[in-house]
This record gives sequence, C-alpha cells and structure tokens, in this order.
Amino acid sequence: MPDLAVTLNRLHLANPVLVASGTFGYAREMAGFVPLARLGGIIPKTITPLPRIGNPPPRTVETASGLLNSIGLDNDGLDAFIEKHLDYLLGLGTAVIANIAGHDRDEFLRMAERLGRCQGLAGLELNISCPNVSGGVDFGVDPEMTASVVRGVREVCGLPLVAKLTPNVTDITAIAQAAAQAGADAVTIANTFQGMSIDWRQRRPILGNVVGGLSGPAIKPIVLRMVWQVARKVPVPIIAVGGIDGIDDVLEYLVAGASAVQIGTANFYNPSLAGMLIDQLDQALASAGCQNVREIVGTLQIPQR
Ligand code: FUM
Repeated sequence: MPDLAVTLNRLHLANPVLVASGTFGYAREMAGFVPLARLGGIIPKTITPLPRIGNPPPRTVETASGLLNSIGLDNDGLDAFIEKHLDYLLGLGTAVIANIAGHDRDEFLRMAERLGRCQGLAGLELNISCPNVSGGVDFGVDPEMTASVVRGVREVCGLPLVAKLTPNVTDITAIAQAAAQAGADAVTIANTFQGMSIDWRQRRPILGNVVGGLSGPAIKPIVLRMVWQVARKVPVPIIAVGGIDGIDDVLEYLVAGASAVQIGTANFYNPSLAGMLIDQLDQALASAGCQNVREIVGTLQIPQR
C-alpha cells in the first residue's frame, strides 16, 4: 500500500485529505458521517477574537455547480473555541489546524500567541482571505500586508503556519511568494471567489449581504490553474481547495503541484466524501505506480509543440 503521509515543512499529516474551515463546524456534527480519526486533518470554522453572529440572511444560495455564501465569520469566538471545542477536537486522533481571522495585524498576533500556547494543535491557518467581512480580504490582496501578518505571527507563535489565500487577485503567485518568504510553511489555495446572485423578478439581490463567495465544482478549473501557476513559481507546499467532488479531482490537484487538499463544499451535500477519498487514494496512487504521495505531486507534463 502506498504511504499516504505528507510533510509540508513543519506540518506533518497522516494523509493529504483535510476538511476545509467553515464546512465542517467544530467536527462534532460530522462524527456520524466520517471516521474523523482517518482524516489527514480538520480545520474548524474560522475563529475571531470575539463571537460573531455573521451577516443577515439569506446567507447561502445554490448556483450552477456551486454555492454562494455570505456567512460573515459567524463563530463562537476565541474563548469559547478554547473552552468548549478544543479538548473535543484534540481527542479525535487527527491533526487539528485552527483557523483564525483578525480585523487587523494585532488581532491576528494576539490570537496566534494564545493558540500557540495551547498544547496539541498541529498548526494554524491564517484566514487572510474571507470575502464576507471588511478587513478580511484586504491582507490577502496585498503582498506586503500578507508578509507582515505572516511574519508577525511567526514571531509570536511556534505552530506550523498555513496562509489561506484569496483568488480575488490579479496574480496569486505574488501573494504566495510573499507568504512563503515571510515564513509560511504552506499556502492554502484558495478561498472563495466573490460573486452575487439576483432575483431579477424582485429586482433584488438574493444574499442579505448582496455579495458572497463562490465555491464548489464550478470553481475547480480556476483553482487548478492557480495551483499549477504557484507550484511552478513558488517553492512552498500547497494545500488545494476548490470544488473537489471525487478522487480524480484530488489527483488532478496533486499532479498540478498541491501536496495536500481540503474538501469543502462537498461536505454539505456528501458529508462522507472525505473518508471515501482517503479509502480510494491508496488504489489511485498504486494504479499510477506511486509508492507515496510525494511521487505524484507536481508531475504534470506539458506536451512540447
Ligand atoms: O463568510 C464566511 O464566514 C466565510 C469565510 C471564508 O470564506 O473564509
């Protein structure tokens, strides 16, 4: 059987299939669907310093092969995460990567410092890319701001760091480069694409927040292109997330250059998918003649013309 373990600089995972922040709650609600201990990692909902109720409803709408959400970082806040959810998560027998978002650099640093003191977390994902709150997306659209947050967090927190990037930029490779140079162990590519949905008969937007972030199979070809571009240009491990719906999607991302993947929107309509993909990955790698995940990462060949 191929070896599924992957190492992304300081981040070590038993296999490359994680579940994405915001699509898996705090994991309790998914326990009946997925053998949680088998996951490569769990990334719970983004934590902010204080609890947030998020944006007004409606906050989700289905689109062609996709989902638009404008949740607005609805979450229990940092104290409740540590007091109510962390022990449960750390007892699941898989890597837990906390995901945080701050309105400013100081908030990122204060949360990172505190979580860095909690024993047992495998890493920290910096959400510098939420499209649904003002302040969230700004860090990830600017290489200098990205570097400033990543560097600052590195100084106050010893956990392996993953920067979650926004696709809503002209050149994602510049942002990935900045994150890597500032000390990110890996980058997550990508968060959702800004979009909107309209009820034309009412002449109204469907989402209470008017705009939201698009995810699901509709975005996969675009994220695949971004993963490939970053992998060619930036020496940083990539965690790909965007529209994974089956084992072929996982393999496409690995071949494009990702070292690991996150399952996101599919958790809402096929909550057992992540577990099934881990079962299927062994066979897919074996059929490609690979003895471990590393052997397939970045193996895309471009035909010469
Ligand atoms: O609105 C939200 O809670 C989404 C967060 C994100 O996409 O990072």
